[in-house]
Parts: sequence; structure tokens; C-alpha cells
Amino acid sequence: MNDKKFYITTPIYYPSDKLHIGHSYCTVATDVIARYKRMQGYDVMFLTGADEHGQKIEKKAAEKGVTPQQYVDEIVAGIQDLWKLMNISNDRFIRTTDSYHQESVKKIFKKLYDQGDIYKSTYTGKYCTPCESFWTESQLVDGKCPDCGRPVEDAQEEAYFFRLSKYADRLVEYYEQHPDFMEPKTRFNEMVNNFIKPGLEDLCVSRTSFTWGIPVEFDPKHIVYVWVDALSNYISALGYENDTYHDFEKFWPADVHIVGKEIMRFHAIIWPAMLMALDLPLPKKVYGHGWLLLEGGKMSKSKGNVVDPVLLCDRYGVDALRYFLMRDVPFGSDGVFSNEALISRINSDLANDLGNLLSRSVSMVEKYFGGKLPAEREADPMDDELVSMISSLKGKYEELMDSFSFHNALAEVFKLISRTNKYIDETAPWVLGKDESKKPRLASVLYNLLESLRVSSILLTPFIPDTCAKIQQQIGASADIVTYESAASYGLLPTEAEVHKGDSLFPRIDMKKELEELEAAQKAAQGSTLPKYEGVAELISIDDFTKADLRVAQVTSCEPIKKAKKLLKLHLDDGFDGGRQVVSGIAPWYKPEDLLGKKVIVVANLKPAKLCGEESYGMILAANCDENTVKVLFVDDSVPNGAKIR
Ligand code: MSP
Repeated sequence: MNDKKFYITTPIYYPSDKLHIGHSYCTVATDVIARYKRMQGYDVMFLTGADEHGQKIEKKAAEKGVTPQQYVDEIVAGIQDLWKLMNISNDRFIRTTDSYHQESVKKIFKKLYDQGDIYKSTYTGKYCTPCESFWTESQLVDGKCPDCGRPVEDAQEEAYFFRLSKYADRLVEYYEQHPDFMEPKTRFNEMVNNFIKPGLEDLCVSRTSFTWGIPVEFDPKHIVYVWVDALSNYISALGYENDTYHDFEKFWPADVHIVGKEIMRFHAIIWPAMLMALDLPLPKKVYGHGWLLLEGGKMSKSKGNVVDPVLLCDRYGVDALRYFLMRDVPFGSDGVFSNEALISRINSDLANDLGNLLSRSVSMVEKYFGGKLPAEREADPMDDELVSMISSLKGKYEELMDSFSFHNALAEVFKLISRTNKYIDETAPWVLGKDESKKPRLASVLYNLLESLRVSSILLTPFIPDTCAKIQQQIGASADIVTYESAASYGLLPTEAEVHKGDSLFPRIDMKKELEELEAAQKAAQGSTLPKYEGVAELISIDDFTKADLRVAQVTSCEPIKKAKKLLKLHLDDGFDGGRQVVSGIAPWYKPEDLLGKKVIVVANLKPAKLCGEESYGMILAANCDENTVKVLFVDDSVPNGAKIR
């Protein structure tokens, strides 16, 4: 039996919107740790899932005219597809709508009530509906929700409370005795200064204003507070208080909960207090990572600036995106995402350094030795530095990985990759290849290249698993020499190993061209989902817009059309010889003399039409002010006739 066990979780995601790259960031990081631990021989349980209850979901479903269950089913299917696409290796996916989870939550609530840790009282306070968070007056920032900055509402109702205050001292004591419980260290200070020091109040843990949630079993008009529901997922998914799973004894306590910094307080204060009340051990660590921001702030659907990971995976491949997310931003800090940074990382690290090293190495083994290196090899002292880098890399890497310093772990591996490329320049295999007597030396040089690739590919596997499998296939490394342990030893690639040249790993991207295309694709994808412009016609691109040739024109004559009460016949000076005739349906609002001499806007390239026997070459622009009023858009006299509008 394997006694090396590792239980790791991501937050369970709200299926309220499409997930963006910030969510992928959190999940990819967790996946990297899970894969790293598996590679080290741990029996890993990696849990992720969906947090599906609450007022917000209920409202959104109602707006869409579907049941909340139908609403979440569709979005959760999309979340699961995204994780498949991103190569997320979760062992379990929990939905808070799963009946086994609901059963656990009901039992947890009842247990806490029966033992007096939950009691009934009246709630008066501030509630942020979008965040589904209760706040005390002292926690508000400028009277608004400290998380999202939106207004909070006064709420008063009969509710159940959890005796959080009772656990304040035990929590502080626990933190002191377990200095690694919260990481990075800055999160610990935030928690203590912002939440513990001002004093912990009891927490309202039920609501009666909506029904989409888990009812309190013994008082079903009350719905269990979404955070109590959600946090319990970490144990219900293992079978705590249900019979669906039976891994609680094996995996609890969790080794680490990976969470974004804004939900640290739920995981580092409320969750441990709940566990104390349940008399269960606490997770060993809660790691609060930073946010992936965009220039100018946070990603948000209402700002219309969310970055879609599917689009990026489609264009560059999932490994490129995984690599970028883990390489560019130190895990505990905030970082800024930009298309330019992404493309530049792909080009410099993946295409140039890693991709080139592989293709040069494999090509040379093919060219000079027909794909298989001879046993006769000649080492040289100039190899020593590279060889010692190869064999010492795993130790450095492990230290950095164990502290979740992914960007540094990757930087270490890429130091070896760069050093190996430099070694090619130093040893100049193309010169050695010209001289038959230098073949043993050449074989030794090329062997070192393959060994460097073998070790790098092992250590990069948690980050870019598909790419590493391709590298190992191309250099002819069999499964037994790409185990984690074998990354510590130089010289494992056997003589009979044969290289197989394959496709280039990461084709180089033309930055300028790609940026334009990517931005256009992102705008098109985002634009079609902008929520705040509901009712606006289907979106068009700037190219579509410029198809309309709009000109300033002056009304030189205007007369009614006898057979059509609504129409006026206008003659316009549009800057072209002879001007043009336009028929317009504005007679209900304008007399001819109102328009004479006025400057208007004409759609100059509209296909001609015949209205009540009169030719019309274009149309003039007018605005619908309300159901009964239309007003022509007049232009300032200073604009010359024929001026093009853009
Ligand atoms: N449902 C709660 C979690 C309950 S866990 C018991 C929730 N869901 S969420 O979908 O809003 O967020 C899930 C995770 O994604 C959080 O850890 C959050 O910090 C992370 N991220 C969302 N946007 C992010 C960025 N822009 N950058 C990095 N992580 C971000 O919170």
C-alpha cells in the first residue's frame, strides 16, 4: 500500500458565467501540483467542481426562463469541457447539486445545530448579493462590499448563526502553532489584521429570501448559506456523512486548498472553525494565490474584458497557455496578462529555446549517425558544466516546486535549456561532423544534448505534459528513463535509443500579425456576449461599418409626394455634380420648409429604390425619439457638402 498520499483541491467554481483565464490560472496551478506529486509517487486525490447554489444563480435562471438546475447543467458541462481541453487531471468533480453532497451538508448543519454551534436568531446586517457575502459594518469599504465594491443591502430576518466568535482564540492559537497553515505569508497578515483583530462575529448561515439551495432539514424554509454548502464539498467529496465515496479516512486532512486571495478568509477562518466544531483535523495548508489582471484592472464580464482560454488554446495549443500562466506570474502575487506577453513567451522560451534545441539535436543525430548514436563516445572537460547542471537540476527544481514557486522552477529548467543551446554553439557539432576522426567526440556532444532534453522533459511534465511526451518520443527515451527519479541521473539514455524527428513543437509566431488577428478574434468573441448593450443589433466589425458610405448633404429642394402622405421628395447637394434625389418617410414630422437649406446625413451607397413611383438614391439619417417621434439628424453648417462621415 502506498502511504504517500496527497489531497489537493481547487475552489469549486460558480457556474454563473463562462469561465475566463483567471479561473484557468487557478486550476492549471493546482493541476501542476497534482501532476508533480503523482510523478513523485504520491497517491493523489485532486478535487475540483462547481458551486451551484445561491440567489445569483436563481435570478440568472429566471432571467433566461429556465429552471436553476437546467441553467447550471449547461454551464457546468462547459466547465468540464474546459478542464478537458486544458488537460486538467482532476480525479473527482463535485457538484453541490449532487445528492450525496446535499445529504452531507444537511447532516453537517444538523450536527452543528444539535451540539449548539449553530443557533437561531435574527439577522440584521449588510448583504452583497453578487458575492453572496454577509458583511459587518466595520468590514465595508466606503459603505460598499469590500470584495467587489458594489452596494450592499440592509437585511433583517430570522436566521441561523454559526458561533464563529467562539473559535477566535483557538484559531489564533492554531495559526501560531502552524506557521505554514496560510501561505504566502502576506495572506496571514491580511487575515489577522483585517478579520481576526477587529473581532470575529458569529456568522449568519441561513437565508429565507430564495429557495435555490440546500434546505435546512429540520426547518426547510431556511436555505443553508452558500459558503457553508460550498466549503463542505472538500469533505463530502470524500464521503464524509454520505455513502457515495469512502476516501475520507484515507485523504483527510487535505494537504492543500488552493484558492484565490479574495476567498482566503472563507478558507482560513470560517472553514477551519467549522472543522473545529466538527472535531475534524484542519487542512495542512491554504494557499492564497494572486489574481491574473488585465492592464487597467480585474477581468470582469460586465467590463467586457474577460480573456477566453478556449480561444487561446485553439490558437497556440494548451501547453503554450499552461506554460505561460505558470511562468509569467509569481504564484502568490498578482500578475498582468497581455497577448503580447503570451506570444513573446511562446516565441522566446518555447519556440526558440526548447523547440529549437529539440529539432537541432534530433536532426543532427539523424544527419550524422542515421538516428542512433554509436557507443564509442569521447567526453571532454568542456562538458563538465553542462553535465553537472543536468544532474543537479532536480534538487533545485524540487525545492522550488515544494514552495509553489512555479515560475522559478520553470526558470531553472530553462536555464539548462539555454545553457544547452549555448553548448551547441561552443562545441560546433557541424564542424566536428566534417571530420571522420571527430565522430566519437560528436557522438558525445549529441548525447549530452539528448540527456539535457530528457531531464528537462521530465521536470517540465507537470506543466506541459503533451509536449514532454512528444520530446521523449522524439529523443527515443523509454518510460523507464523518464521517471521522476531518473531526472537526477546523467547518462541514462541507452546506446540503442533511436531518435524520431517529429513536427516542430511550437512554430514561431509573427508577433505583429498575430496580435492584430488575435485582438480581432477576441473582440469578435467578446462583443457577442457584452451584456450591458442588450437589445443592440448583432455586432459588426469596423470593416462592416466602413461599408456604409455616409456623407453630409444639403437639402436644396423638398416637396410632398401626392400619393404618399408619409413621404417627402428631397433634392440634395451631396458634393457630386447634380446632387441626388432621395425619398424619405419623414412627412409626419417635417414640412418641406423645415428642411430647406438644412444639412443632413445621407447613406450615399444605398442601392437605389423606387418609392411610390419616385426614384430614391440613398436615405437620410433620422433618430427614433420615442414610439411616435422621429427627428432628422442635422449637421453643423460648417461641414462642407459631400464630407465623408467616419
Ligand atoms: N465558488 C467560490 C469558491 C467556493 S470554494 C468552496 C468562488 N468561485 S469563483 O468561480 O468565483 O472563483 C473560483 C476561483 O477562481 C477563485 O479562487 C478565484 O480567486 C479564482 N479566480 C477568478 N478570477 C481570477 C483571476 N482573474 N485571477 C486569478 N484567479 C481568479 O469563488
